[in-house]
Amino acid sequence: MSVTAFSHTGHKITTASLRDHKLRHEPITCLTAYDYSAARIVDEAGIEMVLVGDSLAQTVLGYENTLSVTMDEMLHHVKAVRRGVKNALLMADMPFASYQIDPLDAVRNAARFVKEAGAEVVKIEGGEKRVDLIRRIINAEIPVAGHIGLTPQSVNVVGGYKVQGKDLSGIEQIRRDADALDRAGVSCLFLEGVPREVASIITAEVGTPTIGIGAGPDCDGQVLVFHDILNLTFGHSAKFVRRYGDAATLITAAVQAFRADVKSHQYPSDEESYHLPKETKASLDSLLANPPTRYSSWQVLPTRKVNGNGDHIAAD
Ligand code: KIV
Repeated sequence: MSVTAFSHTGHKITTASLRDHKLRHEPITCLTAYDYSAARIVDEAGIEMVLVGDSLAQTVLGYENTLSVTMDEMLHHVKAVRRGVKNALLMADMPFASYQIDPLDAVRNAARFVKEAGAEVVKIEGGEKRVDLIRRIINAEIPVAGHIGLTPQSVNVVGGYKVQGKDLSGIEQIRRDADALDRAGVSCLFLEGVPREVASIITAEVGTPTIGIGAGPDCDGQVLVFHDILNLTFGHSAKFVRRYGDAATLITAAVQAFRADVKSHQYPSDEESYHLPKETKASLDSLLANPPTRYSSWQVLPTRKVNGNGDHIAAD
């Protein structure tokens, strides 16, 4: 295996530069990443924000929803992503129950993401009801991203993943949530699963950049899940997901080709093998041809046989 060191130079994105993007009407891009290699690809492509989302519960760990993923699991992935990100702003999702129960624990957990894993921003789901907590975390010098609209950690309360803000009272609630988080000083505001019209109003009303997912094109930026854009999710995709590549087909073909090559003795080839130095080979050949009797181990071993399926069978 070979891993290459960083070679690119670029511009470090900060919470301040996000605001500049909004003021210049320059769209902000954000993708999730959960490991080192994905982080490098996303960062080196010039994506401004990398989010280690709790969506990794489903995409990487195979849980049914985001509720099961723990602080320790999240930290493990944030550390890996940190090692792959150079210029992008690195955000860590605070998992379910890491901030909802006790505000002191919440600040401690947020600090772990910064101190142990190198995150620059932590993301918290919920609107008005999270304002005091968000202020506490920001007071501890930890930038916070808000996340309102469809909040996956509320799946059991809401009874599913439902677009929010579809009637006038819903719209009013989302506007209040957005305004409260903006005043609390969030570095950006994720808007998930809200009608385009509502996201557009909020984007115009708040000073903080809005990052949409299923919220239409009028947000200040867009976020998608890495596995969604690459067809690595093994299931139905939401309406807003655009597939930019088919890694599942590519990886399946590569894995099947490897298997077939090994089974048919096509891999590895002689060129893909290491060889003895010439002198050692000559000495070895001569030893094998005339094994000294006291070195019984130099005697030629019986040839191993392979059946039609490529399985080893008993030697003669
Ligand atoms: O966990 C996640 O991937 C997210 C994005 C969908 C915003 O929160």
